Amino acid sequence: MMHVSLRQLRTFEAVARLRSFSRAAEELHVTQPTVSKQIRLLCDEIGLALLEQIGKKVFLTEAGEHLYATCGDWLETWGRFEQTIADMKGVKKGRLRIASVTTTKYFMPRLLGPFCAQYPGIDIALEVINRDRLLERLARNQDDIYVMGVPPDGMNIECEPFLENSLVVLAPSSHRLTTLGRTVRFAELAQEHFLVRERGSGTRLTMERLFEGHGVRPNIRMELGSNEAIKQAVAGGLGLAILSDSTIGEDHLNHQVCVLDVEGFPIRRSWYLVRSKEKRVSVVAATFLEFLKSHVNLLGHPAKEVQQAV
Ligand code: PGA
Repeated sequence: MMHVSLRQLRTFEAVARLRSFSRAAEELHVTQPTVSKQIRLLCDEIGLALLEQIGKKVFLTEAGEHLYATCGDWLETWGRFEQTIADMKGVKKGRLRIASVTTTKYFMPRLLGPFCAQYPGIDIALEVINRDRLLERLARNQDDIYVMGVPPDGMNIECEPFLENSLVVLAPSSHRLTTLGRTVRFAELAQEHFLVRERGSGTRLTMERLFEGHGVRPNIRMELGSNEAIKQAVAGGLGLAILSDSTIGEDHLNHQVCVLDVEGFPIRRSWYLVRSKEKRVSVVAATFLEFLKSHVNLLGHPAKEVQQAV
């Protein structure tokens, strides 16, 4: 019988997931020597090396891979148990895992501030990733709540719109289409070159569906993995972009970028709160959902009942 502690497993899981001793130490709010010590004790107990460090990179050994798979499931089960106990005690305390698509970085962190101030006992882990990676996490039931613009079909989920998410066309301020003095027709827009997000992004998917609906292919000049990079490239005159209006800050990139008036735009959609029906809603998750719905007005535009699907 091995004597392995919960603390050692938690430490190992964090190092294996983040592939870094220092990032694991940061996440667990302990020092790096503490992380190293826990891993050493665990390896001694198991009797095999679990991790290999080459330069700054951390790799899992075969035994490490087995333990990572095992302790991932086990910690998830234990986490649920701890949450059930906290719920039974009626305590708003515990861990909340949220996965949120890239574009939500413009508003999710702002909502978390007041929430954490009101519920200091709730510890939040927020993953900001693109839609495809979020769907993988949803399929593996890794988080309590997901925030996305294009919920998937055919999954056992509950979706609730909570905030407006309009897609707009961004152009350099000096672009000739900004001087027409009338609404730009879609056919005219389709002649332009576009800067697009990476495959797997919800923004990209919505844009592709839009062009498909018009029976045309967009002229893609460049694919960029971030909304910020796209805005900079638009400002630099490389092309136009279709992006969520959440990405438009107050500065409008010092007026180098503007929103074009185009037929069919803005495309009015919603940000959705999504959760798996297979996962019990903890008191903590329910508290967060209620909080979001009641504080969304802080950000401006709560979702309307009916949203245009693209
Ligand atoms: P994305 O998602 O950040 O992955 O593009 C945005 C959306 O779903 O609207």
